[in-house]
Amino acid sequence: MERRTIGAGALEVGAVGLGCMPMSWAYSGSRQRGDESLRAVNRALDAGSSLLDTADMYGPFTNELLLGRVLKERRADAFVSTKVGLLVGQQHIVANGRPGYVRRACDASLRRLQTDVIDLYQLHRADPEVPVEETWGAMAELVRAGKVRALGWCAVGARGGRRSGGLYDGTIRQLRRVQQVFPVGAVEAELSVWSPEALETLLPWCEARGVGFLAAMPLGNGFLTGTLKPGQGFEPDDMRARHPRFTAEMMAANQPIVAGLRRVAARHGEGVTTAQVALAWVLARGRHVVPVPGAKQERWVTENAAAAGLRLTPQDLAEVAKLPAARGSWE
Ligand SMILES: NC(=O)c1ccc[n+]([C@@H]2O[C@H](COP(=O)([O-])OP(=O)(O)OC[C@H]3O[C@@H](n4cnc5c(N)ncnc54)[C@H](OP(=O)(O)O)[C@@H]3O)[C@@H](O)[C@H]2O)c1
Repeated sequence: MERRTIGAGALEVGAVGLGCMPMSWAYSGSRQRGDESLRAVNRALDAGSSLLDTADMYGPFTNELLLGRVLKERRADAFVSTKVGLLVGQQHIVANGRPGYVRRACDASLRRLQTDVIDLYQLHRADPEVPVEETWGAMAELVRAGKVRALGWCAVGARGGRRSGGLYDGTIRQLRRVQQVFPVGAVEAELSVWSPEALETLLPWCEARGVGFLAAMPLGNGFLTGTLKPGQGFEPDDMRARHPRFTAEMMAANQPIVAGLRRVAARHGEGVTTAQVALAWVLARGRHVVPVPGAKQERWVTENAAAAGLRLTPQDLAEVAKLPAARGSWE
């Protein structure tokens, strides 16, 4: 698989990573199976998808524990990205950016992951009660202590609702602040054919500074793969049950986007899928961009890894650019 360098620290990873969240969090729990997930992670590493994107809150904790079982045997094949700063309570998820907490959380992640170093340690959410420089400073100490190789920032996009100014203006202001304390290695934010907002300011900000970009939700939570049917319904614990674009009405209204991706896929031969076109579109946004498609099934992991070899033509890209904007928003 093609390799990409993310961040000024020359962190090298396979061009397509693996988002591990669906194995333990946010998607229907009844379909989460440890053995199948383990096979999926191993398959990703075999295919060169070295970047494994997890978080302490996925599960909570079980996703890191799962990865730890693979990393124990195959640490050298993997690039481990995990996150700190969100705590799962009984009713709510709360931010915690206090330095003491960050230090403890890192040690706990290292134990669960069965490794002595995290390649990319991301701040999942800034804590509004703690100056971000303090949180980032504590994370920088972890780099100096050799527990972490680089620091990353997770940006909340359209799902945070309407804000004044550009969607990522606040994120960029915070990124400027933390850059004064310690270099940002990578930014992770939603980026896909149906959620292209990061292209406006956030992606160029990263590119200009040699900051890597991890494209979260590059398959539109599965919609862009064309395997979901309008009105199919989602289990109550599946985040799509409350997602404004996953009502039967909006899934039907957004079918022209899937149809467009399918047309492009058909031009590239029989085996090429709409999921692969969706990923190839993300890959074509810049060499600092690495999509982290979420998957817990081996067959999806294999298919997604192969997207690294799919090159979209200028005609393909022009056609995708002309697709209608997605309907259904978080505002
Ligand atoms: N930093 C943040 O705040 C943040 C927020 C959200 C996500 N993320 C990261 O981004 C990653 C990706 O996001 P995501 O997983 O929510 O969404 P996604 O990658 O857009 O879509 C994942 C869904 O697509 C399905 N899928 C994957 N490949 C497929 C294929 N080839 N054909 C058909 N279906 C396919 C998966 O099914 P199965 O599950 O059945 O395999 C899963 O339901 C996460 O895993 C996480 O690591 C980060």
